[in-house]
Amino acid sequence: MQVYDNVLAMIGNTPLLEFRRLDAGPCRLFGKLELQNPGGSVKDRIALFMVEAAEKDGRLKPGGTLVEATAGNTGLGLALVAGQKGYHLKIVMPDKMSQEKVQHLKALGAEIIMTRSDVGKGHPEYYHDLAERIASETPGSVYISQFTNPANARAHYETTAPEIWEQMGGELDAVVVGVGSGGTLSGIGRFMKEKDPRVEMILADPEGSILAPLVNEGRHVEPGSWLVEGIGEDFVPPVCDIELASKAYPVSDRDAFLMARELLRTEGILAGSSTGVLLTAALRYCREQSEEKRVVVLVADSGNKYLSKMYNDYWMADQGFVRREATGDLRDLITRRHTEHATVTVGPDEPLTTAYKRMRLHDISQLPVLEDGAVVGILDESDLLLAVYGHEESFAGPVRGAMTRRLEIMSPGEPVEALMPVFRKDHVAIVQEQGAFLGLITRVDLLNYLRRKLP
Ligand SMILES: Cc1ncc(COP(=O)(O)O)c(C=O)c1O
Repeated sequence: MQVYDNVLAMIGNTPLLEFRRLDAGPCRLFGKLELQNPGGSVKDRIALFMVEAAEKDGRLKPGGTLVEATAGNTGLGLALVAGQKGYHLKIVMPDKMSQEKVQHLKALGAEIIMTRSDVGKGHPEYYHDLAERIASETPGSVYISQFTNPANARAHYETTAPEIWEQMGGELDAVVVGVGSGGTLSGIGRFMKEKDPRVEMILADPEGSILAPLVNEGRHVEPGSWLVEGIGEDFVPPVCDIELASKAYPVSDRDAFLMARELLRTEGILAGSSTGVLLTAALRYCREQSEEKRVVVLVADSGNKYLSKMYNDYWMADQGFVRREATGDLRDLITRRHTEHATVTVGPDEPLTTAYKRMRLHDISQLPVLEDGAVVGILDESDLLLAVYGHEESFAGPVRGAMTRRLEIMSPGEPVEALMPVFRKDHVAIVQEQGAFLGLITRVDLLNYLRRKLP
C-alpha cells in the first residue's frame, strides 16, 4: 500500500469501476472515478497542472496570488494546491452555487468573491470578466483562466487519458464526457485520436446548453438554463476542441438527478449532478449499439456537495422532479406529508429546548404541536424567543406554555384561494382530516405549486 508524503501526490491514478447493475444493452460500461481525487473532482488534475505551468514560466512567484472564475470544482482543486504550495487564492463565483461549495472553499482558505448568475459574457459582473479585472488590479497575481489555459487540456492528455487507456488494456470504443471548459474533451480526445482514431468521444450535455445541437446538427441555438452543475455552456470555450465530439446527447435536469440517485442505489457510488447527465447519455449510447462496445464514462465529482439538493427528497419534490400521485386537493400542496414522511413535530409537554434543537437540526422555523395525532398548537421562533428572552430558564419549560393556539385548520377539500387570507395574516395553513394532521402548507409550498402548474 503506497504511503504519500503530500496530498498533491494523491491526485490522479483514480480507479475504474465496471457498472454491472445498470442496463447497458450489449455493451460493457466502466466509470472513471474522478470523485476519488483528494479535492473530490476531476478538476484537481488541471488545478495542479495550471499552477505548475505558471511556476515554470515564471508568472507565479513564491507567496503569489491565484485568481480564478469557477463554478466550484476548479476552485476546490486550486484551493487544495494553493494551500499546499503557500499561495493566496481569490475565487470569483456565480451566486447560484450551493452553500456546501462556498463553505468548503472558505474552509480550504480561499477568498470568495460572489457575483451575479443572471448576467452573460461581456457584462462587468460576469464571473469571468470580473476575475480578469481583479487579477489585473492585484500585484503578483496570476489569472488562471481555465477556459483559455493550455495546461487544462494537457492535464488530461498527460494523465487522465493514459490512465484510461492502460486500465482498459488499450481496448475501448468510446469515452463519455461533459464540457465545462472543454479541457477534458480536448485532452482525452486528442490522446485517443493519436492512439486509436476509432475511439469515439461522446458529449453529454445538459438541456439548455448550446453544445449538443452544435455537435449533432451544427446549429447555433440560444442558451437556456439548467440546474446541473459543472457542465453545459452558453459559448464554446477557447480550450474546447468541440470537433472531437462525434455525437452528443442532451439530458434534462430531471433525468440527470434521477440517474445519479439510481447510480447510488445500484452501484453504491455517490456522485454529482453532472454524472447523472453523463451516465444517462452513456446508457442511451450503449443501448443504441447492436454489438458489444467497451465504453468509459467520467464520474467527475462527488455527491457530497449535492446532499441538500438532488439527494434530498423534499428538494426534489419542491422542484417537481419527483412526481407524486395527484389528489386534486390541498394535499398536492403539502411538501412534507405527515402520512408519508413523519413531519418534524413536537409534543405539548416536551421542553422548549427540545423544540429549539429540532428546529436547528432540520433548519425549519416552526413546529406543529401534536397531541393524539391532531395539531393543538404551533411553535415558531418568535414564540420561542418571547418565552425565553430574559427568562432563559424557561427553555426547560413545556412547549404548551409558549405555543400559539390561534390555528388555521383547513380540510383538504377547501379551495386553493382559501390559503391567501391565511398567508396575509402571516400564518401557516394546517391541513387536517377528521382530526388527523396531514401536513403544513407555507407560502413557499403555494409558490412551488403555482410554478409546477406552468407549462
Ligand atoms: C462536474 C464536472 N466538472 C467538470 C467536467 C469537465 O469539465 P471540463 O470541460 O472543464 O474539462 C465535467 C465533465 O464531465 C464534470 O462533469
